[in-house]
Amino acid sequence: MTYILALDQGTSSTRSIVFDKPGNIVSVSQQELPQIYPQAGWVEHDAREIWRAQLATARDAIGKAGLSASDIHAAGITNQRETTLVWRRDTGEPIHNAIVWQDRRAEDTCAQLREAGHESLILEKTGLRIDAYFSATKLKWILDHVDGARELARKGELAFGTIDSWLIWQLTRGQRHVTDVSNASRTMLFNVRENSWDPDLMALLDIDPSLMPQVLPSGAEFGAIETDLLGHPIPICGVAGDQQSALFGQACFHGGMAKNTYGTGCFMLMHTGESFQTSRNGLVTTSAAQVDARKEYAMEGSVFVAGAVVQWLRDGMEAFEKSSQIEALARSVPDAGDVMLVPAFTGLGAPYWKAEVRGIITGLTRGTTMAHVARAALDSIAYQSAALLQAMSRDAVEAGGKPLTELRVDGGACVNDLLMQFQADLLGIPVLRPTMVETTALGAAYLAGLTSGVYKDKEELSSLWQVERRFEPQMPRAQADALMARWEHAVRQACAE
Ligand code: G3P
Repeated sequence: MTYILALDQGTSSTRSIVFDKPGNIVSVSQQELPQIYPQAGWVEHDAREIWRAQLATARDAIGKAGLSASDIHAAGITNQRETTLVWRRDTGEPIHNAIVWQDRRAEDTCAQLREAGHESLILEKTGLRIDAYFSATKLKWILDHVDGARELARKGELAFGTIDSWLIWQLTRGQRHVTDVSNASRTMLFNVRENSWDPDLMALLDIDPSLMPQVLPSGAEFGAIETDLLGHPIPICGVAGDQQSALFGQACFHGGMAKNTYGTGCFMLMHTGESFQTSRNGLVTTSAAQVDARKEYAMEGSVFVAGAVVQWLRDGMEAFEKSSQIEALARSVPDAGDVMLVPAFTGLGAPYWKAEVRGIITGLTRGTTMAHVARAALDSIAYQSAALLQAMSRDAVEAGGKPLTELRVDGGACVNDLLMQFQADLLGIPVLRPTMVETTALGAAYLAGLTSGVYKDKEELSSLWQVERRFEPQMPRAQADALMARWEHAVRQACAE
């Protein structure tokens, strides 16, 4: 049997998973990642802690599988994207904690870029809208605020990287400073049309080119894990940001195929083939995982609060003890009884992009119970995702294509049947849940396996994808449209607050 190791470094946890060739999980090892909140709106991670946990889980996963490193054919890496780190090339020491993608400290810099009229330039080059979410302004913040950083950068003594680069630097003991196109495309410094760092954008933010990692396709030779770390060298042959990796793991390889990952937030990506399209409907354009010289793109929309609304009901409202209990509570009522919950705890992401908006609950009556609120909370995940999918379909049609015909789903909350049925009802298209919902890690394993010859081609990977359950829309269209209209009304109410 052939085995592949996937390193999956996410926002809340660090995991290592051993897959066999058919894509089954052989073993998993996971550690929670402590979050650092230095002040309101700031989120940091200790990069040394990330590395320690990644190495420990890799050793543990291989051990649990009853294997040794010499049994592992190749390794793939997938990671939280945009999170920004700078370290010294001589010692490998970070000069600051990693600034996490959720961190809003660079909003002022973004406002200045917008006021100076750089929006269309940045959109045309990077496919992104100017936002503190992306790495560029976080990197500028580090260079501006750490003593002597710009001077060291000018001397070529510092390295910038997203978490994939950091892990590869550590795994290769500083021999490789590299990233892949899908991670690079989230920095707002990468020209996704040319697949290269953009000198104009770097000059605009005063970022020295010597800081930047070399950019490779997502399926490539990224170096080998040093022998002393796991006992045997393992070639790193696949790297992708977690959302593009999930798109790959869902075998969405062609234009018009889309997936939605239901995690703390929701990330919906639609492959657009080899054509770079910018959205007129509030989405961003991003590089899909690329396995050869061909450029491939995806449209992406992010919902900032999805599964997090369930955590809030559990921890903040004390509505239940375990997240899994929400389904039974929500099912105890036939519907949300006119209650709408807009969970804009940290503003609204795509397609609304309203950073200043905060959450609201509407439609409360004397008869409203916690069950209605729980149902409205679950509904809000589906409403936000449906708004994204409608925006995607509009973009697809405006670009001369067809609206989406089905949605593949993954992530923790996709096990919730009630949510998935409501999602299909709102969308009016089937929602497909695969047998393997760990598609983020699987995507990295597939990339590594494809590059190292375990798999012949993408067709072989497509044949491994299997549906576990298909949720067909059951609600009459007029009713679904009326519900979406009520949702949009509630969003407008939140925005008017
Ligand atoms: O863009 C942020 C995303 O990559 C984070 O994903 O799964 O770590 O929350 P996750």
